[in-house]
Amino acid sequence: AKVAVLVSGKGTNMAALLYASRLPGAAYDIVLVASNDPAAEALTLAEAEGVPSFALPHRGMKRADHDAAMDAAIRDAGAEYVVLAGYMRILGPDIVAAWEGRMLNIHPSLLPRYPGLDTHARAIAAGDSHAGASVHLVTDDLDMGEVLGQAKVAIAPGDTPDVLAERVKLAEHQLYPRVLAQYVSRPFEPEWLVARVRERAM
Ligand code: GRF
Repeated sequence: AKVAVLVSGKGTNMAALLYASRLPGAAYDIVLVASNDPAAEALTLAEAEGVPSFALPHRGMKRADHDAAMDAAIRDAGAEYVVLAGYMRILGPDIVAAWEGRMLNIHPSLLPRYPGLDTHARAIAAGDSHAGASVHLVTDDLDMGEVLGQAKVAIAPGDTPDVLAERVKLAEHQLYPRVLAQYVSRPFEPEWLVARVRERAM
């Protein structure tokens, strides 16, 4: 399957997804790395690795227009799936609907706990025994689409949000490529979804 990855930051998940995609027998191929931030480190890495990249700053653009430009780049690249990996821009209803069932995100908490920001600080403050990460389908309800897979990470005594975030990222890097590979390889997908993707490719 052909995948576009959307990033805003460092891109460690993008790197994990990319290197997994280059192992023998991989189920997907990254055809584009796109960002709303031209300075994102993730883009530099994509370029060094020879992966096509696209950047369009969102400042001064309406959300719907920025989304539409990202969508056009994704389609031009021939992507069948869109994978958000630290994309820090909320996507509007049009692009979310267009990619329904074909857009995944990774969120650094054990959803449905702690949607939104500062997940690790909130888990520590609540006295939780575990933090973690979730891969989920993207819907209009922020961080609330169907969960496709989770990784649990123990909260150790003395963990700060930053230390915990680093360890959760190690788990994310294992989880995301595996869940994505399983998802794109699932045997059945509703006919309407196949038809919608075909339509968009025309
Ligand atoms: C990850 O923690 C991910 O869960 C969240 O944003 C972070 C992205 O990190 N959505 P990176 O850019 O992949 O290093």
